Amino acid sequence: VGRAVTKAVIPAAGLGTRFLPATKAVPKELIPVVDVPSIQYVVQEAVQAGLDDVLIVTGRHKGAIEDHFDRQYELEETLARDPAKAADLDRVRAAELLAQIHYVRQGDPRGLGDAVGRARRHVGDEAFAVLLADDFVDPADPLLPTMLRVHAARGGCVLALAEVAPDDVRLYGCAAVAATDDEGVVRVTGLVEKPSPEEAPSNLVLIGRYVLDPAIFAALEHTPPGRGGEVQLTDAVARLVDAEEAGGPVWGVVYRGRRYDVGDRAGYLRAVVQLACERDDVGPEFRQWLRGFVAEQSVAGG
Ligand code: G1P
Repeated sequence: VGRAVTKAVIPAAGLGTRFLPATKAVPKELIPVVDVPSIQYVVQEAVQAGLDDVLIVTGRHKGAIEDHFDRQYELEETLARDPAKAADLDRVRAAELLAQIHYVRQGDPRGLGDAVGRARRHVGDEAFAVLLADDFVDPADPLLPTMLRVHAARGGCVLALAEVAPDDVRLYGCAAVAATDDEGVVRVTGLVEKPSPEEAPSNLVLIGRYVLDPAIFAALEHTPPGRGGEVQLTDAVARLVDAEEAGGPVWGVVYRGRRYDVGDRAGYLRAVVQLACERDDVGPEFRQWLRGFVAEQSVAGG
């Protein structure tokens, strides 16, 4: 049903207030998870799913993101002169060679929906994916390929959902759903951005991966500012839920793999520890240290 998706949009204009003071001068998307900036992981995720045309929506004070994905001649030349630095050079180049990366700026940070709306000219009349750099999905258990398959088979929009504890629903967009004949796929029948416990239709929440029909752009134009006075992507997708409207239906893929909210300090720390443990280079030594540290903490009763 759906045409092949080739474009990914990564909003990166947010202020990163949850990570101050680190984000005072450094874009939050460049805060490293071990030694790779979070935005590089999501660009890798898009590319691995076959989306190598990437649009990053940046804003003021975000120029370092462009530098990160650009050549760095002085550094590269210095590294190239020393054969012992070959692996370092590869790591520097990896970010530059990843994808065809384009940029557009969001002048006023008026919300996620507004940021996605800035992609309209670049995306045109094609379905596209949106990936939020705050949401980290385990690369060993990819989610986007499944969403793209559902889109190809069923058309409309496809949202990534995950079950969270009822107390955490208020931090996310939340979906009302109905079962389909496919166990991992649900039909989204309603959406509420950051609901109070009474308003929450379920404990299935949006986890920052979307495959969207281009009808979302018209929907965004008609979406008034919502929660926090910002134009919410959730509200615009909610307008497509009605099957009669172009752009629908809206499907949900329920993700049961590991994920972290790296825009949250506790989630960030969990991601760093887990990824460090799994790395071939720093992993063995770090795991050994961590076992000792945890044992010490338990003895201390912490
Ligand atoms: C945004 C979306 C929300 C979604 C969340 C996922 O919120 O508005 O619907 O559940 O990302 O991380 P934010 O976390 O940017 O406030």
